[in-house]
Amino acid sequence: MKLQGRVAIVTGAAQGIGRAIADKLHAEGAQVAVADLNGDGAAAVAARLEGLGIQADVSSEQDADRIVQETLGRYGRVDVLVNAAAIVPFIAWDEVDFAYWRRLLSVNLDGAYLVSRAVERPMRDAGYGRIVHIASNAFYAGTPNMGPYLAAKGGVIGLVRALATELGRYGITANAVAPGITRTEGCLATPHRDSFDFVQALQAIPRHGLPEDIAPSVAFLASEESGWVTGQVLVADAGHIRD
Ligand SMILES: NC(=O)c1ccc[n+]([C@@H]2O[C@H](COP(=O)([O-])OP(=O)(O)OC[C@H]3O[C@@H](n4cnc5c(N)ncnc54)[C@H](O)[C@@H]3O)[C@@H](O)[C@H]2O)c1
Repeated sequence: MKLQGRVAIVTGAAQGIGRAIADKLHAEGAQVAVADLNGDGAAAVAARLEGLGIQADVSSEQDADRIVQETLGRYGRVDVLVNAAAIVPFIAWDEVDFAYWRRLLSVNLDGAYLVSRAVERPMRDAGYGRIVHIASNAFYAGTPNMGPYLAAKGGVIGLVRALATELGRYGITANAVAPGITRTEGCLATPHRDSFDFVQALQAIPRHGLPEDIAPSVAFLASEESGWVTGQVLVADAGHIRD
């Protein structure tokens, strides 16, 4: 087990890819704090994993700090942060207004920054940390109807590089996993649900992606054995993007 004795925070873990990551990190031996805007969903996943459920909005400075404080209060340490919380939109470019743009950026980019900032001090004090952001292969594909989302995921990749450069000396790595289209509650609730067969035709591995296909890449980057890998984006998309 890769994560025996480790404590991990996973944001956006009430459902979808975040929940599969929480399950995988737990299976690898970690104690898991499950943070989500959906408090009941977070509590249900946490109960199943004998972890800690936290209702929180990652776009709030206070909530981001509280996620880390509650985790430290329960477990006394935090070794791993996985930032999976995000809004997954389907919105034409000419329907994006500034309020929507700001809300999406505040969750998908500010949220990744705020929780990363909050874990930095305890990780620095411990001389060890693994930060893994969930990006998207849509950033490379330029997928339509996702304008603010692509801008936010590009920002997340920039954040990964900044964190890697500035935190490496403290034993902290920062990387991202960029999934391809994946059958999650969030994705299936939008017209993206109609794209799976089209995208499958572009993949090297011809089937629909599941949350469980993404979690093992995250577990590797969350583990001690990935210690020589930082500032990287691992694309987990069945070979859709190849360049
Ligand atoms: N599903 C895909 O096709 C796909 C592809 C590439 C990348 N991703 C990325 O994977 C991650 C998970 O996506 P998913 O498809 O599982 O989405 P999802 O919508 O199924 O789940 C997202 C979770 O994040 C939570 N959340 C949303 N806003 C939040 C906030 N402000 N604070 C805290 N929690 C919040 C939701 O409550 C939900 O539980 C996201 O970062 C997404 O961008 C998804």
